Amino acid sequence: MVKNMTDQDVKQQVRRFYDQVGWQLEADGLYQNAHYEDLRPVSAEYIHRCHGRVGRHLKASGKYLLDAGSGPVQYEEYMEYLRGYQFRVCADISIVALQEARKKLGDQGLYVVSDVANLPFKSDVFEGVMSMHTIHHLPWDDHKQAYQELYRVLALDSTAVVVNGWSDSGLVGAIDHLVKRFNRTRRWLAGGKGLKKVGKGTQAKEKGTYVQKYNAAWLKKELEGVVPIHILVWRSASVRSLRTFIHEKLGGMQLLHWLYLLEEKYPRFFGENGQYPLIVINKCKEKE
Ligand SMILES: C[S@@+](CC[C@H](N)C(=O)[O-])C[C@H]1O[C@@H](n2cnc3c(N)ncnc32)[C@H](O)[C@@H]1O
Repeated sequence: MVKNMTDQDVKQQVRRFYDQVGWQLEADGLYQNAHYEDLRPVSAEYIHRCHGRVGRHLKASGKYLLDAGSGPVQYEEYMEYLRGYQFRVCADISIVALQEARKKLGDQGLYVVSDVANLPFKSDVFEGVMSMHTIHHLPWDDHKQAYQELYRVLALDSTAVVVNGWSDSGLVGAIDHLVKRFNRTRRWLAGGKGLKKVGKGTQAKEKGTYVQKYNAAWLKKELEGVVPIHILVWRSASVRSLRTFIHEKLGGMQLLHWLYLLEEKYPRFFGENGQYPLIVINKCKEKE
């Protein structure tokens, strides 16, 4: 990342990226952004069940569900959370994201170009709040403020759910290290030639944008006494480790079935040490 970028520069860069690249449809009919996910059938059930963990915590019904950093509401599972709500308020810094979201939701959606760290909404208005894979795009200083904003707009007696990725630490770091070594050896054995095989096809190096990640300890310290959070698991396996170790012929589906059950049994451990935590924020009737 270029040094001396101001926070505004970072946001402009992220917005431009999603407008011009991330939410453009590619030849295979998928958004460029979808290629960061493992879309192979062998991982589909595990990923689908992990998505279900978000809905578990959101209130089942209400008038407004806020989706902060909604993107185009790209996965079918994202539609599930809307079921009991009258409107999904899609808030995103990218206009293209919202144009695409409108194609999907029509009148069930309300579309607001906005920054998750400065939400243009009244306090205590959303019975449900979710933010998936978005806060990591914020400049460092804005992370705490984004959590505060999600908490502020959340209605009393309601729950917000945030999903993000941790930096390489703990279990994530160890597995990531293993994956890198494994892939390096594989390439060396193959004579160091050719492109990396990922998913269904062969993928050249993807273009990306600004991402800022940290570990559970940092987040807990940062939000202590400010926003009450519980860290559970959304999905412990990273895309890179799925693509490396999970294959149909090697019992991949069964392995992921067991991993899911383990995550269910130890949600806090996998939440703090796996790749993607599910951060649950409850706003009690009596304000803390
Ligand atoms: C990785 S995509 C995730 C989209 C969607 N939540 C999902 O899970 O598919 C990140 C989204 O966050 C949006 N975003 C990035 N920075 C933002 C900000 N400061 N405020 C609001 N949205 C932002 C991007 O435009 C993009 O649509």
